[in-house]
Amino acid sequence: DIKGFAFDLDGVIADTARFHGQAWHQTADEVGTTWTEELAESLKGISRMDSLQLILDHGDHADSFSEKDKELLATKKNLNYQKLIETLTPEDILPGMLEFIRSADDNGYKMSIASASKNAPLILKQLGLTEYFVGIVDPATLHAGKPDPEIFVRAAEVLGLAPTAVIGLEDSSAGIDSINGAGQVSLGIGDDKVLSKATLNFKQTSLVTLENIKNKMTN
Ligand code: G6P
Ligand code: MG
Repeated sequence: DIKGFAFDLDGVIADTARFHGQAWHQTADEVGTTWTEELAESLKGISRMDSLQLILDHGDHADSFSEKDKELLATKKNLNYQKLIETLTPEDILPGMLEFIRSADDNGYKMSIASASKNAPLILKQLGLTEYFVGIVDPATLHAGKPDPEIFVRAAEVLGLAPTAVIGLEDSSAGIDSINGAGQVSLGIGDDKVLSKATLNFKQTSLVTLENIKNKMTN
């Protein structure tokens, strides 16, 4: 029986994946990496430093950046990103997600956050959603990021639930791998070709309701 939900944040609760993309695009231009849709997609769910490394590896000059240069580039990206998320309000919650979170809460489901983002607490606050979540996994305490299962394993521990009693929600392929590895039911939101390994697939957030989930699970 499902008793809880572990949520990814960027691209699931808020449309911040777009802001990450905007800020990384700027970094890519700066380091001479061509920005493509595939590169943007592959950065979803990936930690800040791993994202930067992917961007550098897609260019021709990956070796010419020292650790110090990388720290500076990552800090600059984060400052640009934080400028974008400062403007977030509850209106920026993705369609249907406030309703879903409220109905899950009303029906006694427990909820936690499994986001690789160090900005997650700030974003939840801006969106007015903090109170709905039992806990937020702190990505700084992880040994390995998504696709490793650790973050979703920890998100179930925060809920005090067995993995099989938890549904993990994700918009990234790395995140779906993490949920599956943690032994949870994976719910993918987005293109079902990108998220082909998800147990359940929803094209968009507005379709994520308790009723639709129940229907898909019994099919
Ligand atoms: C999420 C996003 C990634 C982002 C990562 C780290 O997983 O999907 O695109 O790189 O968090 O975010 P941060 O806010 O800590 O840089
Ligand atoms: Mg995401």
